[in-house]
Parts: sequence; C-alpha cells; structure tokens
Amino acid sequence: MPFARRITRLKESGTLKILDIVKALQAKGASIIQLDVGEPDFRTPDNVSEAAKAALDSGFTHYTPSAGLPELRDAVAEKLRLENRLDCESANVIITPGSKQALFYAVMVTVDEGDEVIVPTPAWPSYMEMVTVAGGTVREVPCSAGFGLDLEALKEAVSERTKLIILNSPNNPTGCVYSDQELRAVTEIACEHRIQVISDEIYERILYEGSYRSLGTYPGMADLAITINGFSKTYAMTGWRVGYAAGPRELISAMNKLQQHSASCPPSFAQKGALEALKPETPVAPMVAEFRRRRDYLCAELSKMRAFRVAPPKGAFYLFPDISETGMPSSRLVELLLEKAGVSTTPGEPFGGFTSNLRISYANSMANLEDAVNRVRGVLEPMGLA
Ligand SMILES: Cc1ncc(COP(=O)(O)O)c(C=O)c1O
Repeated sequence: MPFARRITRLKESGTLKILDIVKALQAKGASIIQLDVGEPDFRTPDNVSEAAKAALDSGFTHYTPSAGLPELRDAVAEKLRLENRLDCESANVIITPGSKQALFYAVMVTVDEGDEVIVPTPAWPSYMEMVTVAGGTVREVPCSAGFGLDLEALKEAVSERTKLIILNSPNNPTGCVYSDQELRAVTEIACEHRIQVISDEIYERILYEGSYRSLGTYPGMADLAITINGFSKTYAMTGWRVGYAAGPRELISAMNKLQQHSASCPPSFAQKGALEALKPETPVAPMVAEFRRRRDYLCAELSKMRAFRVAPPKGAFYLFPDISETGMPSSRLVELLLEKAGVSTTPGEPFGGFTSNLRISYANSMANLEDAVNRVRGVLEPMGLA
C-alpha cells in the first residue's frame, strides 16, 4: 500500500544512517570512536538527576498541562527575560519533548502547502525535512567564505511566497556564530517583508568567543521571532527530551494545539529535572571549558594534516573542515575513515550538499580524540594526506 506523499518525499536522516552503520560494525566487534553524534558525552549534572528522581519517588508521573509545567514555563520566561533580554512571559512559552519537536510545531504552524522557507546552509538537515513535511519548499542559501551569511543572496532568495527564515547560531555543523551585523541584516529583511524567523539557539551557551544576542531582541522582531532552545546540549540532557519555544502568544497557542493532539505533554519528571537545570548552581561552565580544550586540540592536530583545512569555530561542538585536498567526496572519506580507521564522522552532503566538508563532533573524551587523531593519521599518511 502506498504511503502518504508527505512521507514518501521525506529523506532518511543522513546522520542517523551513519549511526546504524556504526552500530552494525560494533555488533561485529569493531572498535569505533564516534565523532558523528551531536550529544555531550558528560553525565547529566547530579542536581538535575536528583530533582527528577525526587519527582519519580513522589509519584510525579502523570500528564502535566499540555504546554508544560506552569513553574517551568515561568522559569524559562524568566531566563529569556534576564539572560536573553527577550520580552517574554509564561504565555509566550511552550515546553516540548525536545527542541526538535518545538521546531517541528513552529514549521507546521507557519508554513502552508506551496510556501517557501529560506535556510542558510550548511544547516542541520532536519530543517529541510520539516519544511517538506509541511508541504513547503526550501530555498537553500549557501554561506559566504568562513561560513558567514551571504546577505545579498539571502535578499535575492525572498519571494512573494517566503513565509519563514530558519537561522541557527551557533551553527550545527560549522560552529559559526553570526555577527551582530549579519543578524541585524536578516531582521531588516524579515521586517521589510513581514517574514517570520525561527532562531534556533540550542547551542547558545556553548560559546568560546564574543557574546550572544538573541534574534528576538532586534527592533521589530517581537512578533516575528520564534526562539527555540532546550536542555539537551547545555546540560547534557539529550535523552530527557525537554525543549521549548518562545514567541507571540497566538503562535504559541497554535503550537500547543499540535502538542495537545500529538505528544500531549513533555515527560512530567523530566520537566522537574529541567526546572532544576535552570538554577545557577548547575555546572555548565566546566563542560564548556572542556569543549574548548577539545576544540583547540582537534583543530591544531587536524591542521597539521594535508587532508583538512579548518579554523577554530566560535561555538557549538563541531568542526566542519574543508577536505578538498583529499580529492574525495565527503561521503567517500567518511566511509574510508570508518572502515579503515574505525572513526565515524558525518558527511557534509546532508547539510546542504557540502561534498568538500565533513562534520566532526568533539563531544567525546580527550583520550578518545587523541586515539582518533592517531588512527586517522595512520590511514591518511600512506596516502600522502597527513
Ligand atoms: C541545531 C539543532 N537544533 C535542534 C536540535 C534538537 O535537539 P533536541 O531535540 O535534543 O532538543 C539539534 C540536535 O542535534 C540541533 O543540532
């Protein structure tokens, strides 16, 4: 029986496909160092786990209000007001099962069949597929040199049908943090054409240089920005599935209708953990310091090899080196490193057709990174690429 068109036009996740191959190799006994997954290797901070355990022990195991626990919505609104300077109250916030779900609702609520969505690339592949499910068309706008925004190309990509722009800074996969000038220019385009902008700020706290400014704070953006964030990356809470969106009340209510009829609500005890995570005593800084150490190490080591051209990115926990010197498309190099070195990375193709880059996640221990560098060098050296 044929499936619905919205499913047949959907691509499989390129990143999860690599994970399947890795698992199959591991099942055969292969030792693989995983530099493909985008999740912190740290334990969730103890204070967070304790709060969730206490919730479980007290029987806090039932549905919560659909848009999330009122105290968590309040705490998120307060965080957004104090840290991000967004004009935000509880009614402007919805808690979702992961920020991915928040993004999905935001796209479903804004994009109609035939609408266009501008996505600067390289970009996290799920954006493209969410737009496809909604029946929209993605207008990809490749970055300028150094992974910055190509502002002229962005302006040219706007049409009568443009409904949405999706921005992600710090960026997955490049680690690039857009400058004030770049963000301002995007908001000017959005205001002129009345286009909604999703600002995916999930890597906001994993920042090594400069400061961070939320897109919703730019003039005219209060009713156009949809801010997305969550607990997965900042607090090493990927499996807890708690994220959130903030935006105009009507939009948040519309998103909540989708949540009511799909997830019902995010997990109750996980929300209690998230509430605890927002407290200032949760140790985020040591994790960021460790990410920085790894970034510096990996950039320095890869730069010594002829195969890679890479500069230290300002945020997130990925490198997206240029691999043109290898003469191989990214997917081929990924296969080679996986099969011969036992190191898994992610090809650049799913991020918007970047055949000359591959994504390396350094959310792995220093010892594993050192081992991975030695393994990769061992494979590339005989090829004259190290
Ligand atoms: C750019 C970006 N946005 C959103 C997410 C989703 O995170 P979660 O659903 O775990 O909150 C990810 C996860 O990899 C991501 O890289």
